[in-house]
Amino acid sequence: MILPVELKKAYRLLNHGPVVLVSSAHGPARNVMAAAWSMPLDFDPPKISVVIDKNTYTRELIDASGEFVLNIPCRRLAQATLQVGSSSGRDTDKFAHYGLEALPAEIVKAPRIGGCAGWLECRVIPNPDIAAQHDLFLAEVVAAAADSRAFADGHWNFSSEEWHTLHYVAGGNFFVTGETLEVSA
Ligand SMILES: Cc1cc2nc3c(=O)[nH]c(=O)nc-3n(C[C@H](O)[C@H](O)[C@H](O)COP(=O)(O)O)c2cc1C
Repeated sequence: MILPVELKKAYRLLNHGPVVLVSSAHGPARNVMAAAWSMPLDFDPPKISVVIDKNTYTRELIDASGEFVLNIPCRRLAQATLQVGSSSGRDTDKFAHYGLEALPAEIVKAPRIGGCAGWLECRVIPNPDIAAQHDLFLAEVVAAAADSRAFADGHWNFSSEEWHTLHYVAGGNFFVTGETLEVSA
C-alpha cells in the first residue's frame, strides 16, 4: 500500500544514500533520468539537493516547470535505472521504451514512477548561480510517500530483498542495501 510519509520524516527516505530516478514534466512533455548525487538538506520543512547536468533534457524540463519527483527505485528497477541514466528523453519516451509506469503525483505535475519504494515531490528553491556553476539544485519536499512494504512509520524495512534500494558505484555496478547494524550512543 502506498502511504504518505510525514514531511518532517521525509529525509529518512534519502538518508542512506540511494540512487534516485528524477522524473520531470512540462506541458505534455515528461521524462526520467537517474541521479546518484542527491541528498537531504534540511528536516522541517524538508529540503533536498540534487545534481542535474546542464546537458540533460531533465534540466530543460525542471528549468521550465520548477518541479520534479525523486523516486527511489529498488532491486527490480536496477536495469531500468541504468537505461534511463544512459539515454536521453530528447530522443525517446523513456517511460514507454523501458516499461516504466508513470503514476500521478499528489502535488507536482511530474509523475511518480510505479514500483519504487518511495517518492519525494519537490519544488525548486530558485538559485540560478549554483545551478549555473555547479549543476546543483536545491528543492523543498512538498509531498512524500512510500510503499508500506518498504518504509512505514518513518522506518525502512529491508527484511525482504525485493525492496532493497540501489547504490551506484560506476559502469553499471550497484550495491544494494545490506545488513542493518544498530548501535546505541
Ligand atoms: C546510476 C546513474 C547515476 C547518475 N547520476 C547522475 C547525477 O547524479 N546527476 C546527473 O546530472 N546525471 C547523472 N547520471 C546521468 C544521467 O542520468 C544521464 O545524463 C541521462 O541520460 C539524462 O537523461 P535526460 O537527457 O533524458 O534527462 C547518472 C546516470 C546513471 C546511470
